[in-house]
Amino acid sequence: MSKTRLLRLPAGLIFAGSLALLAAILLAAFSIRQAHADEPAQQTEAYCLSCHGKSDLSLTLPDGETLSLYISPRC
Ligand code: HEC
Repeated sequence: MSKTRLLRLPAGLIFAGSLALLAAILLAAFSIRQAHADEPAQQTEAYCLSCHGKSDLSLTLPDGETLSLYISPRC
């Protein structure tokens, strides 16, 4: 009886400890995201338009033809 009780306490502490560690990791990840909140996030319209919103962005194709990579932000 007392043996199982003694074994249960450390297991509970380990569980609580790992929960606290997980919460700390999640909080750290969240604060990193908050720190970059003013920059356009990747994979968004604003991020793509930071380059493709420039009317002079173009690509020269292997055959010498110039392809405009400009995307109008209005449509
Ligand atoms: C850092 C500037 C920049 C950002 C940000 C950017 N692009 Fe581009 N994109 C370019 C450049 C420069 C090229 C031409 C690449 C080359 O020379 O092959 C290009 C090429 C492309 C092409 C290929 C066009 C073709 O027909 O070959 C697509 C599609 C494209 N981008 C979509 C996107 C999307 C969607 C996003 C947002 C997730 C994005 N781009 C973000 C600069 C950017």
